[in-house]
Amino acid sequence: MRTLIKRALSSDSSLDTITIKGWVRTRRDSKEFSFLEMNDGSCLANIQCVADAGIPGYEDIAKMTTGAAVGITGKLVESPGKGQKWEIHATSVELIGEAPADYPLQKKGHTPEFLRSIAHLRPRANLYGAVFRMRSRMAQAVHRFFAERDFNYVHTPIITDSDCEGAGEMFRVTTLDPAKAEAQQFENDFFEKPTYLTVSGQLEGEAFATALSNIYTFGPTFRAENSNTTRHASEFWMIEPEMAFCDLQGDMDLAEEFTKYLVDDALNNSEGDLDIFARFVDKGLLERLKFVSEKPFQRVSYTEAVEILEKSGKKFDYKVEWGVNLQSEHERYLTEEHFKCPVTVYNYPKSVKPFYMRTNEPDEKGRETVTAMDVLVPGIGEIIGGAQREERMDVLQANMAAHNLSEEDYGWYLDLRKYGSCPHAGFGMGFERMLMFVTGMKNIRDVIPFARTPGSCEF
Ligand code: 4AD
Ligand code: MG
Repeated sequence: MRTLIKRALSSDSSLDTITIKGWVRTRRDSKEFSFLEMNDGSCLANIQCVADAGIPGYEDIAKMTTGAAVGITGKLVESPGKGQKWEIHATSVELIGEAPADYPLQKKGHTPEFLRSIAHLRPRANLYGAVFRMRSRMAQAVHRFFAERDFNYVHTPIITDSDCEGAGEMFRVTTLDPAKAEAQQFENDFFEKPTYLTVSGQLEGEAFATALSNIYTFGPTFRAENSNTTRHASEFWMIEPEMAFCDLQGDMDLAEEFTKYLVDDALNNSEGDLDIFARFVDKGLLERLKFVSEKPFQRVSYTEAVEILEKSGKKFDYKVEWGVNLQSEHERYLTEEHFKCPVTVYNYPKSVKPFYMRTNEPDEKGRETVTAMDVLVPGIGEIIGGAQREERMDVLQANMAAHNLSEEDYGWYLDLRKYGSCPHAGFGMGFERMLMFVTGMKNIRDVIPFARTPGSCEF
């Protein structure tokens, strides 16, 4: 029976016999014995093992090099060294898989760029092991958050014929029919109409919210957005709750509660993984997360946000004035320099937002806004985008016409307004952006197991 190193290290008593299996991080030899630092990825920490010369399997010790897979059986005893409570005194060692001298992770301190080029080996590096355990734990926290609040988990489709965000940034789905490909005849492919990889599960989520009341989706989404930045990926995961009988206020409340829940979960359940980020990636990380967990977010309307930006006296690359969409430099000024905390901006100009958002009464200057809201956080900018949806049939139809969307294609969506329409609202959180926020990692490519970004789809 194999014990995970995480379990071994948290044992509350010594053990006469234990077997661990993992990969050698380092080995030091003396004449009479060897020290092996072993890691199996179950936790950040290594366990130290002492193997006396001559025990069964010791004849292979020279091959138990960094990266080799090794099994160790022995006694779990109190460690005389500092830092760790337990170590293993081996009674036998077993070489399971060698790692020749060209193993790329011999030395510590590789650049993120180099590690991206070996994405298949990258999770073996301590920092990335921690990132991907955090990712796993955060996904579980997402489900726990919604389960505790009676939300149903809906699996919305990956292949779709609608462009939820209306930005035309969709990947086309085709079959591999060389004859058609050559003639570029994709039009009536497999589904007899053009289909795409989904940019958002929202529209289908609305169908389920207007049946099951509170739902969420959590799955991969795809954007053919040619933005080569540290915050954009072509394939990313999104969490999208949708609530019936809910307005913008309720939507902003849930977004804030959800963000804080994930931050708290990282602070309380990281099993030591947060420490490596705080030590090597971002010295101010723990302080910032605690602050976010404790303090309410700021809320400002788009109109107020634009006034703040105009009065800031700051030279932005992209000039800000009422009516333009906020750029990341504006978002970062608001959250990092002005408020110095997470900020929810709401009621954006109608002209810069998708067709499904609810139209507000015009403001005192006659300007049209919609019930959109974005949550912005320091260091990243937008992590959440959401809205109260337009539930009035006539207004929705007018919006669709203005966006050149045919009522035939979106007939099913209009049915949600035709039959038992109700106010409803939801949002989408970028899972990788949230993960960047809690780990301090600076590039989205470093929090996705295998990143897809413009010009790059290796592995
Ligand atoms: O603001 P977005 O485009 O909103 C929607 O898709 C809505 N339909 C969501 C909803 O209301 N149900 O995207 C939501 C979030 C963004 O705030 C951002 O965190 C993330 O998704 N996101 C990306 N993350 C990584 N790479 C990209 N290219 C992203 N585009 C959006
Ligand atoms: Mg957005």
